[in-house]
Amino acid sequence: MKAKKTLAGLALVGAIALTTAGCAGGGSTAGGGGDDKVITVGFAQTGSESGWRSANTESMKTAFSEANGFNLIFNAADNKPEAQIAAVRSFINQGVDAIVLAPIVTDGWDDVLKEAKDANIPVILEDRTVSASEDLYASWVGLDFKKEGETAGKWVAENFGKTPTNLVVLEGTTGSSAATDRATGFNDAIKGTDITVLDSQTGNFTRAEGKTVMEGFLQKYGSQINLLFAHNDDMGLGALDAIKAAGLKPGTDIKIVTIDAVKDGMTALADGEFNYIVECNPLLGDKVAEVVKKVVAGESVDKQYIVEDQAFDQEQAKAALPDRKY
Ligand code: AHR
Repeated sequence: MKAKKTLAGLALVGAIALTTAGCAGGGSTAGGGGDDKVITVGFAQTGSESGWRSANTESMKTAFSEANGFNLIFNAADNKPEAQIAAVRSFINQGVDAIVLAPIVTDGWDDVLKEAKDANIPVILEDRTVSASEDLYASWVGLDFKKEGETAGKWVAENFGKTPTNLVVLEGTTGSSAATDRATGFNDAIKGTDITVLDSQTGNFTRAEGKTVMEGFLQKYGSQINLLFAHNDDMGLGALDAIKAAGLKPGTDIKIVTIDAVKDGMTALADGEFNYIVECNPLLGDKVAEVVKKVVAGESVDKQYIVEDQAFDQEQAKAALPDRKY
């Protein structure tokens, strides 16, 4: 626990620490020799917008378990940036040992990260990044979103780039590094091809909005659409319903490329309804927990840890599905 904390925060965290100590065995971590203290971590998750997010939350909760020596205070902000900032501020007031943040959007973090720094509470970013100065956080464990977009764009360019092809795009949450960087990587990769972007709108990474936006695209452009790039599986899956309802065959009449490779997406790919998926690995919990332990112990850590992603076509999805963990 930090020296700087409010009285209310002290009482609350004290109560939580006592509860955890009871469960974890006298305040020591399960694997520790008796001197390791339970680490109280506030985790500010984005929300529960997608299958990827559910897998990420589960990975984090498993890694930050009592058995592993943590007392996790979890908050999901329903994809509202103001609510997420408020959650981080509340963790600061509670005097947690470390804050893990999966930032919904890139901008707007400077003030609250400065407050955490002033309170001597390290912040570790998970999944997405922020535009704030690197001095304001200890480390980032995440994915190379630009490369994910580029991998998707290269596949599209190789397979459709030489024939006139009309593309629509379902973007992720506006202002998130996942959406911004995927768009940059994809657009760079399709430059100079015969692919025309008819339209590009946000579906906020959700199945419901993916469906609604795709319905709008279909009403406006009908069978002119040859190709869909969705920034995640869930929006692609929502679009599947819209495409089928319009009497078209997903994967054939409209080719579909997505990012994530969660089980539902991989099933659609194996079934021939998607054409290509670039993975975005959500299983970041163990690495984040390792980094948090080191930071709290005062050990040095890298400024960033990038987790590698794969990519799958239909045949590769069929082969990979039985062993898929999420
Ligand atoms: O930041 C990672 C993205 O967020 C995933 O691709 C998407 O499914 C999630 O909501």
